[in-house]
Amino acid sequence: MTESLHEHYAQVATSQPDKMDAFWMPFSANRQFKKKPRLLASAKGMFYRSVDGREILDGTGGLWCCNAGHGRDRITAAVSQQIETMDFAPTFQMGHPLPFLLAERLAAIAPDPLKHVFYTNSGSESVDTALKIALAYHRVRGEGQRTRIIGREKGYHGVGFGGISVGGLPNNRKFFGPLLPGVDHMRHTLDIARNGFSKGLPEHGIELAEDLERIALLHDPSTIAAVIVEPISGSAGVVLPPKGYLERLRELCTKHGILLIFDEVITGFGRVGKAFAAQRFGVTPDLITCAKGLTNGSVPMGAVFASNAIHDTFMNGPEGAIELFHGYTYSGHPLACAAALATLDVYAEENLFEKAIELGDYWEQKIHELRGLPNVIDIRNFGLIGAIELSSRPGAVGARAYDVFTTCFHDKDLLIRVTGDVIALSPPLILEKNHIDRIFGILAEAIRETA
Ligand SMILES: Cc1ncc(COP(=O)(O)O)c(C=O)c1O
Repeated sequence: MTESLHEHYAQVATSQPDKMDAFWMPFSANRQFKKKPRLLASAKGMFYRSVDGREILDGTGGLWCCNAGHGRDRITAAVSQQIETMDFAPTFQMGHPLPFLLAERLAAIAPDPLKHVFYTNSGSESVDTALKIALAYHRVRGEGQRTRIIGREKGYHGVGFGGISVGGLPNNRKFFGPLLPGVDHMRHTLDIARNGFSKGLPEHGIELAEDLERIALLHDPSTIAAVIVEPISGSAGVVLPPKGYLERLRELCTKHGILLIFDEVITGFGRVGKAFAAQRFGVTPDLITCAKGLTNGSVPMGAVFASNAIHDTFMNGPEGAIELFHGYTYSGHPLACAAALATLDVYAEENLFEKAIELGDYWEQKIHELRGLPNVIDIRNFGLIGAIELSSRPGAVGARAYDVFTTCFHDKDLLIRVTGDVIALSPPLILEKNHIDRIFGILAEAIRETA
């Protein structure tokens, strides 16, 4: 590309647009946003730069995406090289080298025995793919009556019809009709009364796993295909599993022949101190969904890890038959694969999967120093995840945290994420102690000012 084309596109991407009406923004208050936009123009390391030229500390890793920080040269080089070499190639009855290479690399960091990888383009697609694999698996092995899927209240599994059906966030469900049939939900595990201000995993609530037994017996366990949970929920405002809870879910699934799916779209790729939360918690599911950190957020891509047993079950039919009637035009897209391979290189070179353990204690100490500030009713943390829950203003759920969010962004150059009245933090894993001090110093001020 010539210098002037570079300049042209750089200029377009970093300036305030003249018109903002046509873009219908996702999960956003469009009219409110467009009156006072928050526009990011560039990013490097721990920082964004806004279109008005301010350097903004990223407390969110973009949106739980950029675990290796922003603007990583290796990823840029890999994607630039790939687009020059080959822009697109199909993976239906065709192939190119990268998705095979990448799957081997991914299998090497995934927990045993989840050694097969199906590619998608997002977390939502990963979830729908995992649900479909679970249903088809039972059907292929002659248990086609297993059609029920169990999710959990407060769960977020993206926005496909499968994902919102098993998800447990009322606003994401209520507008969209009857959703998938045969879905039931376990109770969520947030219990501020008993577990408020826990450091790390909460003590109380293992008994909530028995909800699975209750639901299984209600429907007959032999009708249930799968249970899907986030090991740690993010979108609901960071809900942690009580000690022993995930282990108990695993036991019950094994007992009843139910597949256990961990949705690791936010917990994958080092967020909690191992490649996957499954490894940190020592609980192995049958399927893992991921996205986001897979390419460090740089090119859309998701994936589903399937156990050898699940994968091999599909490989028993006639050799010329397509084993799974599922896939996306962009499954294994060359640019996404190139980005993911380079991302894995960065994670490995910088030992980033260990950062959440190395810095976890400091993170925990600093976030809990916010206890006692006005309206703070709970603080939760695990790995490099943090949540500060504020009491809601009467009749205005979310308003107080939204004010903290806008104050941080416009006045204090810090990007945080809020959901309801919970401030959720998931910084890039390259952060250092001084960034932690700055994040919580600014937040403390903003929480006080918006009291
Ligand atoms: C646990 C979980 N699952 C699925 C998704 C959906 O991912 P996407 O927005 O890429 O479709 C998200 C997104 O935040 C998530 O946190």
